[in-house]
Amino acid sequence: MQTDTLTLRQPDDWHTHLRDGEMLRAVVGHTARQFARAIVMPNLRPPITTIAAARAYRERIQAAAGDSGFTPLMTAYLTDDIDADEIARGLEQGVFTACKLYPANATTNAEHGVTAIAKIHRVLARMQAIGMPLLVHGEVTDPDVDIFDREAVFIERVLNPLLRDFPALKVVLEHITTDDAVQFVAAAADNVAATITPHHLAISRNALFEGGLRPHLYCLPVLKRERHRLSLRHAATSGNPKFFLGTDTAPHARVGKESACGCAGIFNAPFALESYATVFEQENALPRLEGFASEYGARFYGLPLNTGKVRLRRTAQVVPERIAADSDDLVPFHAGQTLGWRFDGLVED
Ligand code: NCD
Ligand code: ZN
Repeated sequence: MQTDTLTLRQPDDWHTHLRDGEMLRAVVGHTARQFARAIVMPNLRPPITTIAAARAYRERIQAAAGDSGFTPLMTAYLTDDIDADEIARGLEQGVFTACKLYPANATTNAEHGVTAIAKIHRVLARMQAIGMPLLVHGEVTDPDVDIFDREAVFIERVLNPLLRDFPALKVVLEHITTDDAVQFVAAAADNVAATITPHHLAISRNALFEGGLRPHLYCLPVLKRERHRLSLRHAATSGNPKFFLGTDTAPHARVGKESACGCAGIFNAPFALESYATVFEQENALPRLEGFASEYGARFYGLPLNTGKVRLRRTAQVVPERIAADSDDLVPFHAGQTLGWRFDGLVED
């Protein structure tokens, strides 16, 4: 029998870009509506590298989110010369939850990222000692490596040696896109996990070129072949707690996407849970959505599970073509499509 409603422990989003200023005010409500907590990426301009900057950013997020009960979890942006003491103090003071590793120039606002892992050995040793998670954008930036191979090559050249040097470091390989990453994470020790986005589960790289160039489906790491998508779907719906929800919602104003050199990022926050539910249903795995969306991530981070419940209802809803934001507008993931589920909000009991 088909279920018409789905009630879940309130989920968390373990990878979001909330931006700042007008854009923050335009987008944060979409994340705060569905998720109790979110890991907030630090790739602002300038990046978040100090406790003071993270505190101030957290306050701006909380002010923009209003009284929704939403909790932003802050991250520090690792640079070659980041101060290990500042990172450790930030964790101790409850300001930083994790650190983000962007290989220099790997993605949006990654120009201050790490140029060589050797530069941050002291910081990684400290993080390992204090149990602070390292969140990894797992792509090499070597222009000689084909863009579709950059994740697999990163695992071989960077992540493997890093975990040999720091075997107990908690690592989340963010927004994984390949079967190589799935296999790597599944075979690794329990201190290694991965997040998976709605878009990498829903579409393969064919969608980027369907009937023409689709800038709103361009993100990093770029969409991969169908066989990789199938492997990700299998991993996400398998019930393996190493794989959990992280939307990588990454809003860019429409003009920035529809451009001769368009920005990378998919704005999927408005219908994130509906998108995941669709995948889990297609894979006959709806009972496993709660673990993926609401439990495995919190357990990995050592945080309490949320106690509230949310409900999804089986109702067709058309995703709008545009969502107003700032002085421009945003094109959400699934724009113009009909989704079979609708997020109904928190269940009162
Ligand atoms: C992100 C952004 O725009 O900040 N873009 C993206 O395509 N995912 C950066 C990132 O996570 O790579
Ligand atoms: Zn991201």
